[in-house]
Amino acid sequence: MSTDKQTILVVGGGGREHALAWKLAQSPRAGSVLVAPGNAGTATEAGVRNVDVGAEDLPGLVRLCADEAVDLVVVGPEAPLAAGLVDRLEEAGVRVFGPRQAAAELEASKAFTKDFLARHQVPTAAYGNFDDAATALQFLTNMAPPYVIKADGLAAGKGVVVTEDYAEAEAAVRDMLSGNRFGAAGARVVIEEFLPGEEASFIAVVDGETLLPLASSQDHKRVGDGDSGPNTGGMGAYSPAPVLDDALQARVMDEIMRPVVRGLAAEGRRFRGFLYCGLMIAPDGTPKVVEFNVRLGDPETQPILMRLESDLLSLLEAAVDGELEAQTLRWTEQSCVGVVLAAEHYPASPAKGDVISGLETDLGPQTKVFHAGTRADGDTVLTAGGRVLCACGLGDTLAQAQERAYVAADAISFRGMHCRRDIGSRGLNRD
Ligand code: AMP
Ligand code: GLY
Repeated sequence: MSTDKQTILVVGGGGREHALAWKLAQSPRAGSVLVAPGNAGTATEAGVRNVDVGAEDLPGLVRLCADEAVDLVVVGPEAPLAAGLVDRLEEAGVRVFGPRQAAAELEASKAFTKDFLARHQVPTAAYGNFDDAATALQFLTNMAPPYVIKADGLAAGKGVVVTEDYAEAEAAVRDMLSGNRFGAAGARVVIEEFLPGEEASFIAVVDGETLLPLASSQDHKRVGDGDSGPNTGGMGAYSPAPVLDDALQARVMDEIMRPVVRGLAAEGRRFRGFLYCGLMIAPDGTPKVVEFNVRLGDPETQPILMRLESDLLSLLEAAVDGELEAQTLRWTEQSCVGVVLAAEHYPASPAKGDVISGLETDLGPQTKVFHAGTRADGDTVLTAGGRVLCACGLGDTLAQAQERAYVAADAISFRGMHCRRDIGSRGLNRD
């Protein structure tokens, strides 16, 4: 590990990337932290600078690394990973933390992942993969409601239909396979058994072989309070999540995470990066895989990194060097809640260009507002995406963290702003 000051590039422009850049900039060995393209929050974060290169501009990012003599790249979102950004950077001799394209298949193709999990006996919902409608619909008639239909490829978290209604399920299958919905991402579909239970996110840092779990967290995917309304990218998250107690975490590592990392390596798809497993915990406590992501979750990252006391830069360098075994992570005992402030009409058709006020309010070190869909226009900050901000609060209890997160959220306003008022309540009800 070099002792010189490091130039780090974070790829992406959402809330996850703001949190990554903020945390990396705190490292005693961080020189400058660049974010491509970043947002209005990373533009003003201490030690962080935006560069105007898109997260999916692979040649532009390779050039940027040479121009700025970047020492380490950390890739936030899935699209550049699935497009092979890590492979391209490695070919150019750049050190990068993230999975190569072959390993990113675990998120880029749900059909691949289901077959992979079956090959390695990792627990997940029973399923079938289909690329023609007649066979898919034949299979669907043998399933019981609720029906679960998934587009195979990347669809920005929107490619899943869960419905009690057979006609709607049938329409989803036809629509996806005809290419009307999700384009090429829907050219194959997965039809799977519905899993009842409670969802949780389990994320580990992986160096190809060794896994180091991050603190547990739980996302809130539906847009409305009490898990009502349509699915979103995530309306808020908290950490730790009491549903994932020590015994269950050990079980998830033994039955899911380690077999997956071993299986990927055995199939020539060595995984290095953040490995995110979306879990369903059955009422009897059995964990099953709902999905894999090959990156950190958004908004899970924001509360998780608020709780991390260890140096993130050293951790990621150790992972790149295949030396995770020697690493341990320190977490504050405090809980953290992160509340997403969303734009009007999110998730259907979010409004953009509204002026955000209240961002200058300083509520002290126990709160932090991470930017996601924002952009600066002179001295004003405008909304520029569906999930605009994530207001985070730390507290000695989950209840106190929740209270602080909502104090931070309530200091902010913009036209049409909405948020859930119950982020963290599932954990409180369990306590
Ligand atoms: P995915 O993109 O695969 O995570 O699916 C999006 C959401 O759909 C998940 O977070 C779950 O809430 C729900 N979901 C997906 N698959 C299943 C399943 N087999 N059983 C129950 N709910 C599911
Ligand atoms: N919050 C869920 C995700 O990042 O996919």
